[in-house]
Amino acid sequence: MSAIDLAGDLGLVALCLLSLNILIGLLISVRYNPRRDWPRRRLDLFRYHNWTGYTGLALTVAHPLPLAWAARHRFRWGQIAWPIHAPSQPLVNTLGAIALYLVVIVAVTSYYRLLLGRRAWKWVHYGSYLAAALFFVHGIAADPALSGAPLDPLDGEKVVIEICALVVAAASFARWRYARRHPRARRLASAVPLPYVPGFADEAPSPPPR
Ligand code: HEM
Repeated sequence: MSAIDLAGDLGLVALCLLSLNILIGLLISVRYNPRRDWPRRRLDLFRYHNWTGYTGLALTVAHPLPLAWAARHRFRWGQIAWPIHAPSQPLVNTLGAIALYLVVIVAVTSYYRLLLGRRAWKWVHYGSYLAAALFFVHGIAADPALSGAPLDPLDGEKVVIEICALVVAAASFARWRYARRHPRARRLASAVPLPYVPGFADEAPSPPPR
């Protein structure tokens, strides 16, 4: 496997994992309850969101690194960090780099969310939608072999990215509509509350009645 193939494969797995991460985040944000609804089992959505977030972050950071060893169109380290003067597709790669830095910010601020406070953390977390838009554009437009060949939207890997983009866009739209229809959903949807996570719940659980 060439360095360029390795970079592409890492990027594809990172994109799929981050798409899954966003879908789980959307479920948490509408207080979806897997035990009450489908699949009627206790699932720790918060743990899955964390896991896919940090693993997706690690793979996203690893994704461009093999380009430093590519036989053709080798990237210098500075061009990997900020590819505006990259030997291939500088604009498309710079969009990917911006997405990467946004994912770093979203994941790192989540680690320090208690220090930041819920409101500020949440606003930073909305940056994940911009990150997603950029990594989908980057993934679809990037030239897989750095060969200058025209974009093939029906190529197998591109189709996977397009499906991820459509599913994330549809789920984000549904979440936005849900929030408009249920402005007080957070309080009302707690018939079976999520475990209290300091900094995430809107309010601490009230003490049990005496
Ligand atoms: C890795 C550490 C992360 C933690 C601890 C974390 C935590 C959370 C939590 C608790 C929620 C629910 C917020 C609520 O109360 O409504 C959430 C939502 C969300 N997360 Fe994360 N997250 C992490 C990483 C990421 C990453 C890397 C992305 C994407 C790049 C992401 C995308 C989202 C999205 C799209 C939502 C739904 C936001 C909304 O519309 O309300 N998260 N996250």
